[in-house]
Order: sequence, then C-alpha cells, then structure tokens
Amino acid sequence: MVCRLGQGSKVVEPCSIVIFGASGDLTGRKLIPAFYHLYKEKQMPPDFRIIGFARREKTDASWRDELRQALDQFSRTKPVDDRVWQEFSKCIFYCQGDITDAAAYAKLASQLASFGSEPLRRNILFYLATLPSQFGTVVEQVERAGLLHKNGGDGWQRIVIEKPFGHDLQSAHQLNAELTRYAREEQVFRIDHYLGKETVQNILMFRFSNSIFERLWNREAIDHIQITVSEKLGVGQRGGYYEETGALRDMVQNHMLQVLALVAMEPPVTLDAEPIRDEKVKLLKSIRPIRPEEVSKQVVRGQYFAGSIDGEPRPGYRQEPNVKPDSNVETYVALKLFIDNWRWSGVHFYLRTGKNLPLSASEVRIQFRPTPHVLFAAQCGQKLDANALTLRLQPNEGISLRFNGKVPGTTLEVRPVRMHFSYDAEFGAYTPEAYERLLLEAMAGDATLFIRHDEVETAWQIVDAIRKAWEGKPLSNREFYAAGTWGPVAADDLLAQSGHLWHEPLVIK
Ligand code: BG6
Repeated sequence: MVCRLGQGSKVVEPCSIVIFGASGDLTGRKLIPAFYHLYKEKQMPPDFRIIGFARREKTDASWRDELRQALDQFSRTKPVDDRVWQEFSKCIFYCQGDITDAAAYAKLASQLASFGSEPLRRNILFYLATLPSQFGTVVEQVERAGLLHKNGGDGWQRIVIEKPFGHDLQSAHQLNAELTRYAREEQVFRIDHYLGKETVQNILMFRFSNSIFERLWNREAIDHIQITVSEKLGVGQRGGYYEETGALRDMVQNHMLQVLALVAMEPPVTLDAEPIRDEKVKLLKSIRPIRPEEVSKQVVRGQYFAGSIDGEPRPGYRQEPNVKPDSNVETYVALKLFIDNWRWSGVHFYLRTGKNLPLSASEVRIQFRPTPHVLFAAQCGQKLDANALTLRLQPNEGISLRFNGKVPGTTLEVRPVRMHFSYDAEFGAYTPEAYERLLLEAMAGDATLFIRHDEVETAWQIVDAIRKAWEGKPLSNREFYAAGTWGPVAADDLLAQSGHLWHEPLVIK
C-alpha cells in the first residue's frame, strides 16, 4: 500500500524568482536545468517569471541563448525538448546591474512592477548565488527597494542562500544577524543540496517506517557507523575557492554533518519542518566537543599529491591552478565522533571525505555488533563477519544488507551474502535532481529541507574546534596521500585503534 505523507504535488502560488549572481556557473549548471524540468513536469506555478540579475551587459534574448546552451550541456534529460524550452524561456528575463548600486534595484523593482499580475509582483523568491560576502548587501538593498517585507504584508518574499554560510561560527552568526535585520528567520532558506537528494530524504523514512531496523538503531545492536563521501574528482579549476575552504568546511560542516544528523537523530514529533530541525539540532549539540589536545587523536587531515586514477595522471593539489605551492589546505578529512546521548553512548561514528579518491561514492554503513562467537569459533573465529546495512546515497542509489549464510556443500562453511535494493530496479531511472526538489520546496514555502540558523551555527562550532587545532601547523609527511588512493595511512590508524577498519564503498554492478 502506498502511503502519501503530504500533498501529492505541492501547491505553489504564482511568483517571480530573482537570481542574484546569475552569470555564475550555478545558474546554467543547476538552477535553469532544475526550473526547466519542473516546468516540463508541470510542477512550476501556473504563472511565474525568472529574472537573472548580474553585472554583465546582456539582453533577455542573449541570456536565453546562453542558458539554452548550458541546458543542452547540463540537462539530466537529453535532448532538450525544444517546444518546452520555447514556452519556458518566454518567462526568463535579464536585469543588468551592480549588486551594490541602489539604482540597479530600482530598475529591478520596476521590472517586477511591469509584470501584469499582482502575485508576480509581490511573491518573490530571491536566490542569492553571489559571493557570500555579498549576501548582506543584497538583502539590505532589496529591502530598501521595497521588495522585501520583514513584517508581512501582501504576498511572500523568501531568500534562498547558497553555501558556504559563513566560514566559521562568528561569521555565520554575524551573517544570520545581518539577514534577520531585514527578514524573518522563516523567510531564509539555507541550501544544503544533500538534503535535496532522494536517498538522503529516505534516511528518515527508512529508519522510522521499518520496525525491524528501528528497534536495532541504537548502541545495543550497532557497533559503529561509517559515513563516506568520496570523490574521484580533484579540485580542478576550483583551487581559489578551495584554498579558502578545505574539505572540512566544504563537505563536513554541511553535507556530512547533515547526513549524520539524519542517521542519528531521535524521531521528530511530526514530519513538519520545525520538529525535524529541532531534532537535528539536538543531535548536533550532543556530539561530544573535541578538545584541542584530542584533535590529533580523533581527526585526520590529508592532501593529495600527484598520482593516477584509472590510469589517468592527476596533479598534486599544490600543482592545481590558483593553489599556493606550499598550501596546507586539506583535501581529505576523516573524523571519529561520539554522540553523548542515551541512544548512542559509546558508539563510534566515523566520517571521511576526500578528493581524488579511487571512487565517487557516498554511503552510510551501519555496522552491527557481532554475534557471540561460541558456535563458529573453531572454524571462523573473529573472521565471521558482523552484519552491515549500507545506505547507498549515490551512485547506484539503494540499500544493501550483508548477513551470513551457509555455503552449500558438505563442509560447514559460513560466508557473507548480500541483499540489494536498488532505486533504479524498483522505481525506474527517474530521479529528480536535488535542486528541483529544493527549488520547489522554497517556492512552496516548506523549510524542511533547508538549514535553520541554529543548525548552521552548531555545525560551525564542531568544525571550528578542529580548525583551531590545525592553525599554523604545516602538514606532516603522514598527512599526504597519492591521488587515486584511499587517503593518508593515518586514517586507517584512526579506526585500527578501536579494532575497526574502513570498508570500501559498495559498487553494485
Ligand atoms: C559541494 C562541494 O557542496 O558538493 C563540492 O562544494 C563537492 O566540492 C560537491 O564536489 C559534492 O556534491 P555531490 O552532489 O556531487 O556529491
């Protein structure tokens, strides 16, 4: 029986979407393809306009041409349906202007005012795809231009903010304060695109709708949990950004702690945005703070040097464009965390992420405790595998369960076997892109898949403690790894201390 937990499709009122920083690559790579697919699948509001706001001189027509080329390249369905594009692109406009110039916002306001229907003028989604340092300015300017109303009034206005949300606790706190000077917290939608992924959303459904797993989800049954987000790609052209960020800020502060929160949080009172976010914050707050002297015991950083992946040579991080030749920025990080609450006391949580690793794969592995070895001790001893459940977030989206079975034959032999559930086989290949879901939710005003201010600040607190301990300490030899390997050896030692080992992400053929 299918059980619908919400409305079948979201009710979205007519609205205008203004993208600031529209000439950045996010617009062509993610946003426009997402809006195009929402339109194609008839999920856009009955009436809408999209305005790109950026500094370069362009006309509506030249911008549409540019976006069409990007769509041809980045659309998840190919070829692009020309008839759908022709209709869709009539709703796209361009507004040339400088983000700091009040006159540009006045121009934007008159462009919005020229849209015939009332809801298009007053329901506005501001999408901030600008440099983070410009978030505050944009919000202040739209408010001054009379386009953003903090205290309600007609229609709705919402602000969608791309990551990174600050670069440490203090800056995130300051940014939150700047935004909430002009908008209410409920108007601010902080994006973490991992929350838009089907498999990440499924974590809560899976945990709380399956009694066989729900009752095992605790320290009694679970030995430890491993969360891996490995990427085959190196830093490539993003050296400049990465030099300011590093793996800890780029991946752990947001995506990985979000996944951890969903895996470990308590059941929310309802599936509404606030109860879910309350539980996530509670969980993040229960993560045991890492004291400065413990950072080296619980956290491993790494940086790739030249190597190869699938026979293809890869340069070292320090040789990538816009990277300092003596940079100490980490491209890999592995952590051991403890959650000090009733459910998880004593359970190890291991998180790792890195660039230029052998595989691109994101997964959560729940490693159960072994059975007592009394029966099989003579033959198998410690070799008998403990059960494991793997949530395959991407690629090969699905879930696998590993358990033991007797090998057929006259000898008594036990070995692990697996059961696989695959999204493709079960539901077909259609999986919307994370941005489609997120944009739809933001237009509908549902904040469940967005990060609340206290979530972002708690996550920074965890990350800041680690960064502080690294400050001024150059990388040691043990902290380098060759591109195409699974990170520095120190990351293996991190688990070995507790008798654990990293499991390679599952590849389902
Ligand atoms: C982004 C990071 O947030 O997430 C990138 O800035 C990273 O460095 C990307 O590559 C990973 O996202 P996905 O969806 O490809 O796993």
